[in-house]
Amino acid sequence: MDRRAGITALGAYAPPTVLTNQDLETRMDTSDEWIRTRTGIRRRHVAAEDEFTSDLAFRSVEDLLRRYGDEALAGVDMVIVATNTPDALFPATAALVQHRFGLTAGAFDLLAACPGWIYALSVAKAYVENGQCRKVLAIGAEALTKLVDWDDRSTAVLFGDGAGAAVVEEVEAPYGLAPMVLGADGGGAEHLHAGAVGACLPGGAKLTPKVVMNGREVFKFAVRVMDTATIEAIDKAGLTPDDIELFVPHQANFRIIDAARERLGLPEERVVVTVDEYGNNSTASIPLAMTHALDDGRIRDGDRLLIVAFGGGLSWAAGVMT
Ligand code: UT7
Repeated sequence: MDRRAGITALGAYAPPTVLTNQDLETRMDTSDEWIRTRTGIRRRHVAAEDEFTSDLAFRSVEDLLRRYGDEALAGVDMVIVATNTPDALFPATAALVQHRFGLTAGAFDLLAACPGWIYALSVAKAYVENGQCRKVLAIGAEALTKLVDWDDRSTAVLFGDGAGAAVVEEVEAPYGLAPMVLGADGGGAEHLHAGAVGACLPGGAKLTPKVVMNGREVFKFAVRVMDTATIEAIDKAGLTPDDIELFVPHQANFRIIDAARERLGLPEERVVVTVDEYGNNSTASIPLAMTHALDDGRIRDGDRLLIVAFGGGLSWAAGVMT
């Protein structure tokens, strides 16, 4: 019989230090009112100076262990960390997680901008279903505030730090991850990017290791792609929007989330919103929001969840799971 992969454990972490909109008012020319009405963000959690993506990833796995016990990691044979802010180019942040928890596992980082965690789930699903792996630890972890240009108010107010971890392994029907939608358009690199080693765009524009964004272009792209990618993912799962019990979108901007919810015809109570508390913590945002939903008793046995994300340079992903 065909193998089916699904999520069997979740955990999350956000650093305790909170930066409110009022705090930002004292640091730059912005206002609580502007940030709230344009984005829905009130606060964001920020990693300490000496706290990096690997530390956040460790904490999210510790949270998962607290919830499910040590058995949850037994047999994990692959660790994937989706991140835009790896501690180093190498070793992979995932290798630091492997070592920290004493796993006998392969490990690699996955760089696919904000949809990275959904990409990681799709890889985990394939590895489990084709027999390559027994259990995959798929983490989204981000110390994004270290990549933010604090002199650029148009981006500095948007981002936060955090991490979320999931175990993916074989499950029985009706549980499992449906085939996912994965997309990219590198032609949109100019609209949202951050530099690394080869620090220039096609055409030669010089990049710095800071987030640079054309907010309006990304907004228009986000609203469009959240619509098309979710419909495609629901279709791939053989469902209709009415079948979705809970919608857990990437937490970048409340207006984008609400537009997507409306296009799907879902009532407000079927959407998870955490952007007010965390801002946009990129690859961490969906597993963190899912863990919150679990804690709030909003995910019940057999529920079908829809996830979707969009982001840098440009990219998107969506999927349905039971
Ligand atoms: O994971 C993907 C991450 N990216 C996104 O999700 C970004 C998607 N885009 C957005 O969320 C929105 O475009 C923003 C929230 C970034 C901006 O909202 P907007 O309604 O598109 O504003 P805007 O960029 O058109 O700027 C409007 C005004 C400008 O002033 P003028 O030119 O009208 O005088 C900006 O200079 O707001 C000004 N502005 C600010 N004012 C106060 C820009 N940033 C700020 C700020 N505080 N932090």
